[in-house]
Amino acid sequence: MALTGLGGVNIPYYLEEEQGWALQVEGLHRALKDFKDVCNPVALYVINPGNPTGHVQSKKTIEEVIRFAAEKRLVLLVDEVYQDCVFGKGSEFVSYRKVLSEIGPPLSQNVELASFHSVSKGFMGECGLRGGYVELVNLDPEVMSYAYTMFSADSCPTVTGQLALDLMVNPPRQGDPSYPVYVQEIQTIKTLIVQNMSRCLEVLNSMPDISCQPMMGGVFIFPRLHLPQKAINKANALGIQADLWYCNMLLEEAGVCVGPGCEFGQEEGTHHIRLCVLTPVDTMEEALQRLKNFHLHFLQEFS
Ligand SMILES: Cc1ncc(COP(=O)(O)O)c(C=O)c1O
Repeated sequence: MALTGLGGVNIPYYLEEEQGWALQVEGLHRALKDFKDVCNPVALYVINPGNPTGHVQSKKTIEEVIRFAAEKRLVLLVDEVYQDCVFGKGSEFVSYRKVLSEIGPPLSQNVELASFHSVSKGFMGECGLRGGYVELVNLDPEVMSYAYTMFSADSCPTVTGQLALDLMVNPPRQGDPSYPVYVQEIQTIKTLIVQNMSRCLEVLNSMPDISCQPMMGGVFIFPRLHLPQKAINKANALGIQADLWYCNMLLEEAGVCVGPGCEFGQEEGTHHIRLCVLTPVDTMEEALQRLKNFHLHFLQEFS
């Protein structure tokens, strides 16, 4: 959004929904090819673990993406703000920086990488405490010095934001007085997310015309709506994206607030909604039941 705001052109690439929203490098090649006469691409933005998809990339995928960036001479902008929030069986967060350094020279010394992290996500989940960092690797020294000046001139986060950031990167260790409370809190949040995620999958996948991939990380689930043609026609006639229209009605009629897939970008002709699973179990259950009732009525009206 920031780059678009500064006049950059966004080249969308799509993830493989049926493969749990995996990133395939072929998709990146396709995207570049489609835009070859439009602009000169300079950077590749990746979110891992994914929002809104909840996918966690494997080491193999990361290596392929790094090789792609090297071949196409793209700066890698890697948004890793959900790195502490991984719970899928067999999935593990591996940082792009680690994989890059393990690839070895010349790539480990050439590929320019920016890794982002923020206190507003992960276990801290404190959007109110603004704080984050970007780690720049292999940047051209001239650009690096420009970045340093630019960041220094910017106003810094509040002291509480900086304290939160410090705690995030340097959490209590065994033997520290707050360690048991910290571990307990983390475990409670993890258990809550896992419980909510599996309940969401169970309810959503039991509903007609909704399908949902399991999430491996992050705090969102991104089910697909298979909307009836009559509903799509109606939305078109109203001049609104069909999933945005669905979300508006879900909010107005059932009091449930979710995000429409069209706001995140999705394959043409597909529709999605994004639900947050970082919420108390009772609230999650209530939201799911309201969503289910609304959805069944919606289908009845438009099928
Ligand atoms: C992938 C991703 N990156 C960055 C952010 C924003 O981070 P911040 O709150 O530090 O601006 C979000 C917020 O939802 C996010 O989902």
